[in-house]
Amino acid sequence: MTHPPPQSLEAQALLDATVDAVILIDHKGIMQVFNHAAVRMFGYSAEETLGRNVSMLMTERDRDQHDAYISRYLRTGVAHIIGIGREVQARRKNGSVFSAFLSVGRIGADPPRFVGFLQDMTLRHQALQAAQRERERANRYLEAAQTMLVGLDLDLRVTMINRKGCEVLGRNEASLLGTSWYESAIPADQRAELAVQFGTLLEHHPRGPRHFECPVLTRNGAVRQVAWRCVVIEEPQGIASGILCSGDDVTDGRRAEQDVREARERVMHVSRLATMGEMASGISHELNQPLAAITTYAQAGARLLDAADPDLGEARDVYHQIAAQALRAGEIIRRLRSLVRNRTSTRELTDLNAVIRELEPLARADARASDVRVLLELDPKLPRAQLDPIQMQQVVLNLLRNGIDAVQTLSPGQREVRIRTCTGPNGEVQILVLDNGAGIPEELRDQLFTPFMTTKPHGTGLGLAISRSIVEAHRGRLDFEPNQPRGAIFTVTLPASSASGT
Ligand SMILES: Nc1ncnc2c1ncn2[C@@H]1O[C@H](COP(=O)(O)OP(=O)(O)OP(=O)(O)O)[C@@H](O)[C@H]1O
Ligand SMILES: [Mg+2]
Repeated sequence: MTHPPPQSLEAQALLDATVDAVILIDHKGIMQVFNHAAVRMFGYSAEETLGRNVSMLMTERDRDQHDAYISRYLRTGVAHIIGIGREVQARRKNGSVFSAFLSVGRIGADPPRFVGFLQDMTLRHQALQAAQRERERANRYLEAAQTMLVGLDLDLRVTMINRKGCEVLGRNEASLLGTSWYESAIPADQRAELAVQFGTLLEHHPRGPRHFECPVLTRNGAVRQVAWRCVVIEEPQGIASGILCSGDDVTDGRRAEQDVREARERVMHVSRLATMGEMASGISHELNQPLAAITTYAQAGARLLDAADPDLGEARDVYHQIAAQALRAGEIIRRLRSLVRNRTSTRELTDLNAVIRELEPLARADARASDVRVLLELDPKLPRAQLDPIQMQQVVLNLLRNGIDAVQTLSPGQREVRIRTCTGPNGEVQILVLDNGAGIPEELRDQLFTPFMTTKPHGTGLGLAISRSIVEAHRGRLDFEPNQPRGAIFTVTLPASSASGT
């Protein structure tokens, strides 16, 4: 049995203070030094190890080969581990195995001894594995995200793109990484606009993300509309190192919105036509009046001119009357046309009173045909509002027609519908249509605005539904309440112009 060489107190203290496990072996692998850190690492006391072969600290795999390593090294001088270091599997007293980084030095020559320094790698491995797991999880999130994620460097080259991003563009990751984002994905006519967005972002470093829409060009040349949220990626010193963008492909949603808008406009158009149809008898009456007047004036004019000494002043009057009546007929037709023309929605700063006054001839024509008195009570101080005048006329006409229908049960002298404008409690602009008809039965009140709900033999049941959707598109409300002592009040409430956007 080889005895450990005597050690100075300093040397012993030094060894025991070392964080690494230090093990000294002779050329046969017999342990001569086993420091405190080694005791902690392996669970053996120094007494249990000194004088025994170091292979007791190894796993089965290394154990048998260790003596062979040493003798081969002594024979050939070729080092496999000395001066290099490598990771090994080591075995504790309790049989558990752990990873350690082993560096070996040679001491003396004949025969040499070897000193091994071991670092327990368990914690480092755990940390590395945890970091790896974290990275994999982050990657899985990136891949699972139903949002496009794109990382760009300061030259706007792609540094990262997730699966959804590749999917929308119809390209693979490898063909995009490192390429210019403009050239790879942005339609040529959009690049200048995007440059402005990125420029502002990098210049101002806003706290929150910058939101904007910018289309992308897919591999097959299709353009997809994408809503982006972009943030600046900053180094710890606050220096921008790139941009991270997340994008949602909103193409289908935009198309659906457009379809809904178009469908709604078609329905409104049809409904305006239907309203016109119902009003046809009133309208034809209204047109017949000037036409009949024109006929009468023309005949009177002819008679005047047939006279032996025609009164030219009177004849001129007759011509003026004819012109005035023709203008009136033309005006009615112009309003009708503007009401039924198929058109897209607008917003204009509008005087609602003027809009209602414009409707007056049509309203009166319709009312007269049904023997109903229509009263206008327009508030001269009414604020203006942002609205679509034609759509608002359509709402008023729908409400007026309902009112006219509702008072039919009364005797002709009592039938009355009022159209009133006023300022609401919070400065809103209001239009009220009041009638003194039979009112709305309790059981109908919940379904009044449901499309196709009608109690009329020829009703579409769309009037109120469309009116409410128009008013709501103006960020307003259409409400109902009973009138006193009987009848109904429909109230349109619209934000006044200062409170409303476009
Ligand atoms: N002023 C009112 N008084 C009493 N009932 C009303 C009044 N306005 C609406 N209603 C009831 O609400 C129902 C739905 O009205 P809406 O305007 O939506 O359709 P409609 O008038 O029946 O059909 P259309 O508008 O196509 O002529 C009416 O059928 C009627 O029963
Ligand atoms: Mg109606």
